[in-house]
Formats: sequence, C-alpha cells, structure tokens
Amino acid sequence: MAYANPELAADILPLRAVHHIELFCGNAKQSAYFYRMAFGFSLVAYRGPETGERNKVSYALQQDKIRLVLTTPLVEDEVITPFLARHGDGARDIAFECTDTDLAYAMTIERGARSVEAPHVVEDPRGRVKLASVATYGDTIHTFVELIGYDGPFLPGFEPCPPDAIARPVGLKYIDHVVGNVGWDEMEKTVRFYNEVFGFSRFVSFDDTDISTEYSALRSTVVSNHNKWIKFPINEPAEGKRKSQIEEYVKFNNGPGVQHIAMITDDILSTIRAMRAQGVEFLNTPASYYEDLQDRVGPIDEAIAELSPLGILVDRDDKGYMLQLFTKPVEDRPTLFIEIIQRKGGESFGKGNFKALFESIEREQELRGNL
Ligand code: FE2
Repeated sequence: MAYANPELAADILPLRAVHHIELFCGNAKQSAYFYRMAFGFSLVAYRGPETGERNKVSYALQQDKIRLVLTTPLVEDEVITPFLARHGDGARDIAFECTDTDLAYAMTIERGARSVEAPHVVEDPRGRVKLASVATYGDTIHTFVELIGYDGPFLPGFEPCPPDAIARPVGLKYIDHVVGNVGWDEMEKTVRFYNEVFGFSRFVSFDDTDISTEYSALRSTVVSNHNKWIKFPINEPAEGKRKSQIEEYVKFNNGPGVQHIAMITDDILSTIRAMRAQGVEFLNTPASYYEDLQDRVGPIDEAIAELSPLGILVDRDDKGYMLQLFTKPVEDRPTLFIEIIQRKGGESFGKGNFKALFESIEREQELRGNL
C-alpha cells in the first residue's frame, strides 16, 4: 500500500481539499432557492425522479470552488429520515477531493475509523467516480471522492442544469474551514481521531495560546492537512460567564455536528453588502466594537467607517489580519451557520473577536430564552 505523491508527501492520505458539503434538508427545493438568492450559489446539477433516482432529490449548488449539495428524502430513508428527525437540517457529509479512494478508505479503517460505505464506483455517460465514506463526530461523515475521467457537472447520476437565471453571486470563492462542535470534554478525543486516523496535525495559530476565555465559553483546537486547504477547528463547551454557545448547539442538534462553514471572499465589503441586500441575516456587532478597533488591530486597508455599518469584525495575528462576519443560524434551530472571511495574511480564526461576538451571541440567546 505504497503512497507516493510528491505534492502530498507529508500527508498520509491522498486528500487535497474539500470537494463538497452535503446538507440534509426537510425541503431541499426551498433551501436551494435560499442559497441561490441570498448566498449567491448557482444550481449546476440535479438528481431526482426525473433522472432515475426514485427515493431522494439532490440539488448541487456551486459558487467558484464551493460546492453545496442539498438532499431531501422522498420516501422514508434509513439514513436521512432519522438524521432529520434528530438534528433538523444540517451538514451530513464533508467530502474530500481524493486521488485514491481505495487507499484513503483502507488506511482510515485500519487506523480506527468506522465504515459508512465501502469503496464503490458510480458512473454515467460522463465518466466514473469512486466513492467511499467513513464516520466522524456525531452523525457527520467524510466521503472520499476520486474522479476517474469524469467531466460532468458534479457527480455521476446528476444531470447538468441550464445557466442559473436567479442566482445572485456575491463573490464567495472557496471553503476556508469547517468547524465541528462536540460535547463536554470531547475535543481532545476528536482531535486525536483526526491526528491518528487522518494524519491531520494541530494547526498552530494565534488562537491556540489561550482559547478558553470567560467570553468565548469554548475551547477550540484546529486540525489541518499538510497543504492547509483542509482546516477543521473542533470546539467543545467551556465554563464561562454564561451558558456556552457550544452547549446550546449540542442541545439543539442532539449531539455533535458541523457548527459553521467558513467561506472565503477577496472583497468582504462588497460580499457582505450584497448578502445583506439579498436578505442574509448576520450577527449584530455592537457599535462599541469599533471604538477601540484601531488600537486593537493597528493599521488596516479598510476604513472603519465602511466596516462599521456592515458589522464586519477584524482580528490580527503575527502574520497579518483577517476580516470576518457570521450569519445567524440558517435554519430555525440555533445550529449551523455560515462565516464569511477575508484573509490579509492573518491565519487566525478570530479569537480576538470572541468578546465582541460573545456579547452579540448572548443577546440572541437571551431572545430565544436559552441564556
Ligand atoms: Fe470560523
């Protein structure tokens, strides 16, 4: 089982990046409209009864390199139905672009992962793809996606859609990181799982020095693959000033799951402006956040007078700075949300913003009566 790919020599698995994220939804048709109109994704491919899939419907959405797949069961499904009953709408699968599915599957199983689906080829006239899946935290899975001369719109079985006439792109480019929330004292176990089973290492960043604060009420450790295109912060609840936002998530999600997906833009001002105009709701940033921003982050390219009305947060580390903003949960349960992020050298995940965020999230929790 020799693995020789010079580009990825430091990784034990032949993974390159996140290929797509699949969300299970109660009504994928309506959710797809939301992600197209509000978040700017285009519908690129479809699989359902019209294409020969009798039991479920999937919409493949894309914006630059970000692929989201929304799936709804048409009949009682032994996987999707209990997932939706337990968690509500949420992320099921963080799928990896992979150059050798057999090897990735064999190695992760050998190192202790639980199998969800053994390697198998799916094909249509546009080519073949080899898929296999293993379990991670909660009911979340990782699928290995190996394209074998496939040149279709998403995966075999999906039919291409005409150019999307209603999508309103906002400049989102690729996935920066995907955050998993786990329960009390489960972070180390999960980090060890990614270390030992996937060969991911601890991503040392500014955030690592003192992640647990009375404001954040969470502890977080980031694991990443060698090229750092796959970055997974893992959060667990911590004792803080008030109830941990991670604890609230785990309660409403009925266990661990994906907390947020961070998407890169190279112009956060125009991206947030467009998303707000298209109806996306973001966490509120207190006006006081901007009073001492300049002192905290030093010189930045953006005018604070432009950041402030959009609520954009800024955090600096020793490599540079980053700008970020979090949406409100994208479903009624306070579970999955989306982060918009622009990096200007900064490699942090926004620890410096926890206090400001905490104050904002606290107000949201209070409105829901969960404080
Ligand atoms: Fe994040």
